[in-house]
Amino acid sequence: MNFQDLIYAKRDGGVLTEAQIRWFINAFTKNEIPDEQAGSFLMAVFFQGLNKEELSVWTDAMIKSGEILDLSSVGKPTVDKHSTGGVGDKISLPLCPLVASFGAAVPQLSGRGLGTFGGTLDKMESVSGFNITLSNEKMIQQLKDVGVFITAAGAGLAPADRKMYSFRDVIGTVECISLIASSIMSKKIAEGTQSLVLDVKAGRGAFMKDFSRAKQLAETMVEIGNKAGVKTVALITQMDTPLGNAVGNALEVSESIDVLNGKGPQDVIEITLALAKEMLQLAGINKDPATGLKDGTALQVWKKMIIAQGGNPDIEIPVAKKKENVVATQSGYITDLDAYAIGLSAWRLGAGRAKKEDAVSKTAGIICLAKEGDYVEKDQPVLELHIDDASRLPLAKEALKNAFTIGAEPKEKRKIILERIS
Ligand code: URA
Repeated sequence: MNFQDLIYAKRDGGVLTEAQIRWFINAFTKNEIPDEQAGSFLMAVFFQGLNKEELSVWTDAMIKSGEILDLSSVGKPTVDKHSTGGVGDKISLPLCPLVASFGAAVPQLSGRGLGTFGGTLDKMESVSGFNITLSNEKMIQQLKDVGVFITAAGAGLAPADRKMYSFRDVIGTVECISLIASSIMSKKIAEGTQSLVLDVKAGRGAFMKDFSRAKQLAETMVEIGNKAGVKTVALITQMDTPLGNAVGNALEVSESIDVLNGKGPQDVIEITLALAKEMLQLAGINKDPATGLKDGTALQVWKKMIIAQGGNPDIEIPVAKKKENVVATQSGYITDLDAYAIGLSAWRLGAGRAKKEDAVSKTAGIICLAKEGDYVEKDQPVLELHIDDASRLPLAKEALKNAFTIGAEPKEKRKIILERIS
């Protein structure tokens, strides 16, 4: 295969053959293509996109670049969830045990955070002793015994994506719907789940800032999943203002435990229940998920999962050494609370990482003491900053300069679930 022909073909808007795509994914994964040629080809894909047939082959080649988990011995319907990520998005933490508490198996392979989005694995590591690395045998056993795990994907799963995602990051080709959709779906399909619910976030605190791009991504992923035999549904949810009150790893774990205790912020409960309903439906379980939060069964599964993965659910979640408030400069209603500003500030406090290798702070973050629609008095605290490293504070505060707006009239509440795609 002359790789330059592929570059020219895609650059000029041509359609790649199945053989060309499979050859590229295979050679790229094995490091057989010089970086400058791979970069140039991916940039051509970035601008020209992939049509439906190309995308289906591309995703299949990514899946087959590594192992495909076989969960058939679990003996329960398998259903997973993926979120494209947002500020304060801790939903997997209450959701996965909740769905498992109804008899489904939830194989949650997660990632770490990059940029302003926290990763589920970083959050789970705030739980004392929690181990995010499980062997395939242990994963299957835990699905049988507990019904859920939250772990890192092993190196053998979709290695083509592992290499391509970090490569795309440095050559500026991340924001491409075909490449994002194949990246996410190749990992989820290789994980062996029978069904999948996607939470595609839209708004200034999300990867997809505008609704139409989020919808296009959701439709593309739903089509890839269903074509590959994984029953897939997506909800598009708003991410202009933070989800819940807590932003930061340990803070989000504590808020998730509140939800599992039948408390917690209303928006977190609403999305958790909406996604749980979709997951249970796909798993063929006709039950009302709200009961699992009210009667404590989801909390029991959470505790069992923590213990099964080496953690101790009774040890207090850590909190930061120091706190500082940001107060309202006038009385009135909060009319805008900007997810991007809050995410950036929490990231600057140390809750997120700039490079893959960076460590994150468990305890740094922000609690939104007031949210959009709330009335605040002048000098009332609106944000509570949790500080692990005081040297990070000035830049973190700078990000908050226009983080919220106060007006005389309350604004209409934002709709949380914007659209369902199936
Ligand atoms: N998340 C992924 O897993 N892949 C992408 O390409 C973007 C976000």
